[in-house]
This record gives sequence, C-alpha cells and structure tokens, in this order.
Amino acid sequence: MLVYVPSHPLVKHWLAVARNKLSPPAVFRGALAELGRLLIYEASAEEGWLPVLEGQAETPCGIADVTFLDPGRPVKVVPILRAGLVLLEQAATVLPNSQTMHVGYVRNEETLEATSYLNKLPDRLAADDRILVVDPMLATGGTLIKVLEDIIGRGGSPSMIRVVTVVCAPAALQKLSSGFPGLKVYAAMIDAELNERGYIVPGLGDAGDRAFNTL
Ligand code: URA
Repeated sequence: MLVYVPSHPLVKHWLAVARNKLSPPAVFRGALAELGRLLIYEASAEEGWLPVLEGQAETPCGIADVTFLDPGRPVKVVPILRAGLVLLEQAATVLPNSQTMHVGYVRNEETLEATSYLNKLPDRLAADDRILVVDPMLATGGTLIKVLEDIIGRGGSPSMIRVVTVVCAPAALQKLSSGFPGLKVYAAMIDAELNERGYIVPGLGDAGDRAFNTL
C-alpha cells in the first residue's frame, strides 16, 4: 500500500483545527505541528525501519535490557521549504539523533512548475539510509517527485523513504504510484481534488502563508 491515513481521533481533531479558515496563524501552526508529531510517530513505527541497538542500562535498582535508537544511523529528515518547516519542529523531537537536510522549492503560480533554490542533501546517500520527507501539502506531487528523484539519484532507496504530509490529492498519489517501489506516504487525509490554481479542495489553503502569517 502506498498511502496510510491513521484513523486516530487526535489526527482528526488537529486536522479539523487546521481546516478551519478562522484558526489564526499560531493555532494553525500548532495544529500542523501536532499532526506532524502524530504522523511521524506512525511513519516510523514499522518494525525494522528505525535502526536500533540492544544493550543494558543500569537503573537505580538493577540492570535492564534496553533497546535504543542507533546514534550512528540517524534518520535523515528532508523538509521541503517553506511549509515543511512546520512539520520539522516535531521531527526533531520525535526522532532523537535525526539529521535535517533542507530542500527549498518555489512554485510558479501560473505553470505550477517547481524550481529548486536550496538543496542540503549530501552528495551520496546509502541505500539503507532511512529518509523522512516532510511537506504538509501533496497537491500535484510535482515538487515531491523532484525531491524523490534527487534522493534516489544520490543513492537513496525508495523503500526506505517515508513521506509525511497532512493533506494529499489523488493526482499526486497517482503519479507516485509508479516509479517508487516500496515508498510509503502518511497523511491525515486524502482530499477530493485540485482547483484550477493547483490548491487542494477542500484542503487547508496555502499552508506556508497560513503558518507564517504571510497571507
Ligand atoms: N500548497 C499549499 O499550501 N496548499 C495547497 O492546497 C496546495 C499546495
């Protein structure tokens, strides 16, 4: 399966807050941050995806067998600027030791074509690197596909990539369904369609502008 939509009531609650056009920027940003936390938790839950080590810890009362995240194999978090920054706040706390590699794309509002203005991906990625791409709105899928192709071109493997988004549209999922075997997308909702400006309907509006109060 390509896309997972958790049915947790907290996901529904924070999505409701984010959907409401009357939610002020701080409330909207808080809702997206909560959704990021919940969805990143889900996206990293699959057994074997998070690299762990086994060991022992001395507690005040004895010795316990413990499992902890392997500090030598940090998850590489790739926020797509600008709106991805809102989900990133939570990635850094949900995933201890994660590394952040920002990528920035700007969308031409007429052609809807995205062009890159920032890329902090390393030259080479390993096929077993765990990579988490975060972007709250998956509308046409054009930007995400460019980012995924870039990651794969540097050595990353689609089956190790998890995408966390808040709302996605069928158009994007259709494009992602071929060419990225094993890719998994985690979303709070799949909405019906895009409007003529490429916005998701009903969606959330412009997530970056709402989060950063630049409407
Ligand atoms: N980007 C947004 O912020 N919102 C959309 O609906 C589509 C793309």
